[in-house]
Amino acid sequence: MVGQWADFQYEIYLNGMTGAVPRLPTDLTRLEELAEHRLGPGPVGYVAGNAGDGGTARANRDALERRRIVPRMLRDVRERDLSVEVLGRTLPAPLALAPVGVLSIMHPEAESGAARAAAARGVPYILSSASSTPMEEVAEAMGDAERWFQLYWGSDREVTASFLARAKASGYSVLVVTLDTPLLSWRPRDLDRAYLPFLHGVGTANYFTDPAFRAGLAKPVHEDPNAAVLHFLGLFGDAGHTWPDLGFLREHWDGPIVLKGVLHPDDARLAADAGMDGVVVSNHGGRQVAGSVAAADALPRIAEAVGDRLTVLFDSGIRTGDDVFKALALGARAVLLGRPYVYGLGLDGQAGVDHVIRCLLAELDLTLALSGHASVSTLGPDALG
Ligand SMILES: Cc1cc2nc3c(=O)[nH]c(=O)nc-3n(C[C@H](O)[C@H](O)[C@H](O)COP(=O)(O)O)c2cc1C
Repeated sequence: MVGQWADFQYEIYLNGMTGAVPRLPTDLTRLEELAEHRLGPGPVGYVAGNAGDGGTARANRDALERRRIVPRMLRDVRERDLSVEVLGRTLPAPLALAPVGVLSIMHPEAESGAARAAAARGVPYILSSASSTPMEEVAEAMGDAERWFQLYWGSDREVTASFLARAKASGYSVLVVTLDTPLLSWRPRDLDRAYLPFLHGVGTANYFTDPAFRAGLAKPVHEDPNAAVLHFLGLFGDAGHTWPDLGFLREHWDGPIVLKGVLHPDDARLAADAGMDGVVVSNHGGRQVAGSVAAADALPRIAEAVGDRLTVLFDSGIRTGDDVFKALALGARAVLLGRPYVYGLGLDGQAGVDHVIRCLLAELDLTLALSGHASVSTLGPDALG
């Protein structure tokens, strides 16, 4: 679609003639502070919190802010094309919503609200294994819209195979396997409040509705919820997986597989050698390894190493349209948006997520135009200083 995203700007100004202003800030970096004021400390701490002292999350922002765009002049940018080819599908913009678990702690519309907002704009929605809504219900809310499934690759093969079969049957087309969370990291904001939603059976919907999971319980979930939670904790992660184990996932999934959490070029090469289709260069938003390399600093070397063999996606630190521009210039095909849409959901439900998507893409579209680029697909390192 040509030039449509920037038009959101005029829509806002025209609505302003009747006295209306946007319900949420249009500078998406302000959402976190607003969420801190308006939402409960447990939930917002869970979303905003990081591993250790938060240094990795700060490094993610710093690595993007450090890069600067060098605008070019007198180029015809009246018509712009934000669409991209990703894993064999054409997306209207280089954006998907990142998998984020337990969204019911932010808003009762939870994953279905976020998924509907994504669907309405043609943006793929990536459903987390740890969603508070079963994958079939989210699929139902999305109609035919593009949806991907994120797997937390646990220790029970039956449950993993069952998740993949259910995801396939309910129309999830791409499998995103998160590698950076075989264990939960040291997260002081949650630890200080002893806040972990899973212990209360929140974020376990896919497990508690799963026949293979339930087969491992002595009593039905509603009769002994604590035992179900313990069973979940026992199989959620598996720190013993190694590269050859990917064969099991390939056997049970016939669509594209993307590995999320890759930060070293050699791991990206191993992903390609293992027959994977893509990687997400990501450090989980700084939530897993304190002291980790910033995701945007890892991106160019990975794009260089495997850009011709794999689809390279990126997340961790994306807040604004110019961040998206920079990630594409550093070698990503598209980005995943995380916390900003989660704050949008918390502050205004589905409408808040819609606002965030439209702001981000309008800003990207305008940044593209004002920097002298008519298409996202031609962005490269020379667009940056
Ligand atoms: C509250 C929260 C929950 C998350 N849950 C998941 C998850 O279930 N699965 C997953 O692969 N990544 C999860 N992530 C990581 C995101 O997919 C993404 O990598 C991260 O949010 C990017 O960092 P940013 O939001 O700071 O840009 C979560 C992130 C947050 C903030």
